[in-house]
Amino acid sequence: MIRFKHETENDKQKVEDLLDLVFSPSRKNLSSYLLRKNVPKISTLSFVAKNNKGSIVGIIRNWPIFIESRKNISLLIGPIAVHPTFQGEGLGTYLINYSIKESKKYGWERAILIGDIQYYKSFGFFQQKNNKIDFPSPTDPQRILLLEIKSNSFEGIKGKVKKFY
Ligand SMILES: CC(C)(COP(=O)(O)OP(=O)(O)OC[C@H]1O[C@@H](n2cnc3c(N)ncnc32)[C@H](O)[C@@H]1OP(=O)(O)O)[C@@H](O)C(=O)NCCC(=O)NCCS
Repeated sequence: MIRFKHETENDKQKVEDLLDLVFSPSRKNLSSYLLRKNVPKISTLSFVAKNNKGSIVGIIRNWPIFIESRKNISLLIGPIAVHPTFQGEGLGTYLINYSIKESKKYGWERAILIGDIQYYKSFGFFQQKNNKIDFPSPTDPQRILLLEIKSNSFEGIKGKVKKFY
């Protein structure tokens, strides 16, 4: 049986190990990691999936970011990872849906995620049409995905994605 819990301080190293396994340690050079560096993750929106032995088999974390100015706060959803042995069993779907549901509860209005539209479109993510959101490079524009947690919350939002400060 899989249990879903908030990530705790005790989980931290195991989560890092899973991320290294799934994405490799070079993940830390990605532009999305630079937006996360020295910014605390949102602990109310960081979850782990544990199997019956207590091993972490899936995780999702969320960070705050700004789009151009502090008034346009947004979530940066991710990383999301499921241990290879447990992939394809619905854990990723559960973690993403749960995280979005909780973020709505806490009043978050919009989110950005860097990922594959083929997987994420079913959760409501979409690719921007006019490149108004300028995510730090190098990032494949096709992988910049937006999610309106609140309807139309990306309307009128444009500019550079910036680190939370
Ligand atoms: C992407 C990931 C989080 C999905 O978690 P999961 O628990 O395996 O996913 P689910 O079981 O909920 O869904 C599986 C379905 O998604 C599909 N899928 C998984 N990754 C996909 C991708 N990149 N593009 C398209 N479809 C994808 C699978 O083929 C499967 O399809 P099916 O149900 O028709 O067989 C997980 O596979 C993973 O950790 N992958 C490596 C790391 C990664 O890419 N993370 C996301 C980057 S932001």
